[in-house]
This record gives sequence, C-alpha cells and structure tokens, in this order.
Amino acid sequence: MSEVVAVLGGTGALGYGLAVRLADAGFTVALGSRDQARAEEAAQRLVQHLPSARVHGVVNEAAVRMADRLVILSVPLASQVATIASVAEELVPGKVLLDATVPLAPAIGGRPTQVVGVWAGSAGQQAAAAAPAGVDVVSGLHTLSAVVLEDLGSPLDQDTLICGDVKAAKEVVREIIGAIDGLRVVDAGKLEASRLVECLTPLLIGINIRNRTHAGIRIIGLP
Ligand SMILES: NC(=O)c1ccc[n+]([C@@H]2O[C@H](COP(=O)([O-])OP(=O)(O)OC[C@H]3O[C@@H](n4cnc5c(N)ncnc54)[C@H](OP(=O)(O)O)[C@@H]3O)[C@@H](O)[C@H]2O)c1
Repeated sequence: MSEVVAVLGGTGALGYGLAVRLADAGFTVALGSRDQARAEEAAQRLVQHLPSARVHGVVNEAAVRMADRLVILSVPLASQVATIASVAEELVPGKVLLDATVPLAPAIGGRPTQVVGVWAGSAGQQAAAAAPAGVDVVSGLHTLSAVVLEDLGSPLDQDTLICGDVKAAKEVVREIIGAIDGLRVVDAGKLEASRLVECLTPLLIGINIRNRTHAGIRIIGLP
C-alpha cells in the first residue's frame, strides 16, 4: 500500500497536475473537491490519463482523513481560509499542510502579473493562521505550471522553493514532492519568506505571456 497524499482542489488546474505527477511517482492520491461527483470525474480522468494511477476521488474532508502525512491546498485565494476551515476536524497534528496559494490580483479584479497584499504577510502565513493548532504549514509549489505538470511528456527539470518554520514538516514536503521526477525542492527559509516566493508567480506569468511558454525556476550553485 503506497503513501496517501491529499490534494484539496484536485479538480482544478494545479491540483490535477500535481495529482498526475504524484500518482506517476507512485503515491496514492486522495483527490479532493467540494463536490463528490466532481472529485470522481477528475479521478476517472486521471486513471484514463495514467492507467497505473492509484487515486480516490472524494470530498475534501475525506481526502484529509485519508492523507498519511501530507495535505496539499490548491484553491483560489478567495477560498483558501474557508477550505481550511471546512477540513479543520480532519486536519490534525502530524499532517503537514502544504499551501500553494498565490495572492494574485485577479482575486479582486486586478492583473495576473500583480499580487494583492495579505494582512498576515503572505498567503502562506494566512494559511498558518487559519490552520488548526499544532498543524505545521509549509508553502511551496508557487512556480510550477499546471500545464506542464499535467503533461507527463514534458520533463519538469526545475526547482520549487518551500518556506516553513518547522524543519521536520519541510522534510516531509522535500521527501514527497522531491520524489516527483525532475522536481528539486529547495528550502527558502521560514514561512515569512513566502511573501517573497509568492511574488515569483506573477513575475513568471509576465515572462510566460511575453514568451508564449510555461517557464519555471532553477536555483544554480547549490551543492
Ligand atoms: N494554475 C497554476 O499553474 C498555478 C501555479 C502555481 C500556483 N497556483 C495557485 O494554486 C491555487 C489553485 O490554482 P488553480 O489554477 O488550480 O485554481 P482553479 O483551477 O481556479 O481552482 C482550483 C479548485 O479550487 C476549488 N475551489 C474552491 N473554492 C473555489 C471558489 N470559490 N471558486 C473556484 N474554485 C474553488 C475548485 O474545486 P471544487 O469546485 O472541485 O471544489 C477548483 O477546481 C491558486 O491559489 C493559485 O494561485 C496555480
């Protein structure tokens, strides 16, 4: 029985792409949605896409219950806090919450090349404030393209920067996300650094628009 990783918002662009790559890496995916039928449809799509995939399409609460160590949150900024609240009973200490939320300005009618200010300092810090006591929050995955993730024929060959205050939680993320082929996890420091990392997404969106591509990032010079 392989480890179960939950993806909340697994029906969406990023969540589905992550589900594809996690299933390809051998994990069992608990693909979560607010709606059971949408979750099952996405899970079926994943099995058609990748016949070896082990995936359960379930509502978000059930996905969190099924997760062994890692719960990925992949929903729009506007529903980030509400989604965490909706799974609070199942999100218990020992399960790490990996938040991928980017506070993009379209949330309030602005441009995708801009961010909005979040009172907590960043979306990652807002997730930590909303999470149940004792649950460690790590932020990451902000610079991954959903389009590239979904296409198993496209090598990832890139890094993802993670931020968090608890080393052991970052180690869980490094172990699981780092098992995705072609993806290296780089520790970018404490959760407060997430306000810097989240700004890379609108920067990449602008680069993507100018170059008609789906760019990622790579930190050079690491041992
Ligand atoms: N797309 C990317 O390439 C990318 C890359 C890096 C980071 N991100 C970040 O990852 C998060 C998810 O991005 P995405 O592009 O995957 O978003 P999305 O496709 O618009 O939404 C993801 C899922 O969130 C759920 N959801 C919950 N509340 C919602 C609401 N009020 N309105 C709409 N959907 C809602 C929906 O699932 P159910 O309806 O099934 O519950 C939806 O399928 C965002 O915070 C984004 O900034 C995205």
